[in-house]
Amino acid sequence: MNDANPIDLLFGGMEKLGPGSNADTLKMLDRLPRPPEGTIVDAGCGTGRQTLALANRLRLPIQAVDAYAPFLADLARRANEAGMAHLIQTHCMDMADIPHRFREIDLLWSEGAAYNIGFPHALETWYPALKPQGFAVVSELAWLRAEAPATARRFFRTGYPQMRHIDENRSLAEAAGYHILDTHTLPDETWVEGYYDILEPRAKALLTHPEEAVRDFAAETLEEIRIFGCSEGSYGYVFYVLRKA
Ligand SMILES: C[S@@+](CC[C@H](N)C(=O)[O-])C[C@H]1O[C@@H](n2cnc3c(N)ncnc32)[C@H](O)[C@@H]1O
Repeated sequence: MNDANPIDLLFGGMEKLGPGSNADTLKMLDRLPRPPEGTIVDAGCGTGRQTLALANRLRLPIQAVDAYAPFLADLARRANEAGMAHLIQTHCMDMADIPHRFREIDLLWSEGAAYNIGFPHALETWYPALKPQGFAVVSELAWLRAEAPATARRFFRTGYPQMRHIDENRSLAEAAGYHILDTHTLPDETWVEGYYDILEPRAKALLTHPEEAVRDFAAETLEEIRIFGCSEGSYGYVFYVLRKA
């Protein structure tokens, strides 16, 4: 591990790399009208909190896809410790290449990761890899109201300019050919517990790091946490539970 890599310094060893919880993951799984079977892919699995929760519940193999090898190594170690190594297959690859590697996917899961290739692009790219009536459960940051505090608008204008309103994301999913079975917004505490409450002290400690890139990343993270604290519920992480039409 490179000690000066801002990603490793800030996120190293963390069980979750974005807002979320096992309770919410399993709640989404329960909203599928039938149990998934066959090929299940977790796109942008990170260190695999949700991968392990899904594998533990389904007792089926999960194809865990991420572009960052150290996160996959962490997942493999956790799977081993949990006695689930036989259920987790890791693939270090670009999630945009999923249709080239996997066919007839029955469940494509992706928490807090699709934005990396663009939410609409991800939905369009993964569609042909799903089998007919197969499911995609994808979470994405979204505006939840028409109005938002000016500080939040300003932050995301540079932080995530593509961020859309929840209704626009619903329309995009339908335009990509999916039937929307449900949506669910993650509760605020899933941003804090095991995520911001770990990141905040780490980021504060890194503000004096000798490398500028590390200091900048730490400062951005602290600003993100501050903005969340005064967001007044104007944005959130939304799950879209989708079925291939
Ligand atoms: C915010 S993290 C979310 C990880 C995990 N799903 C969670 O909720 O804890 C986003 C993940 O997407 C991965 N990622 C980013 N771009 C990717 C790409 N093009 N293909 C595959 N994985 C990617 C990152 O390495 C990271 O693990």
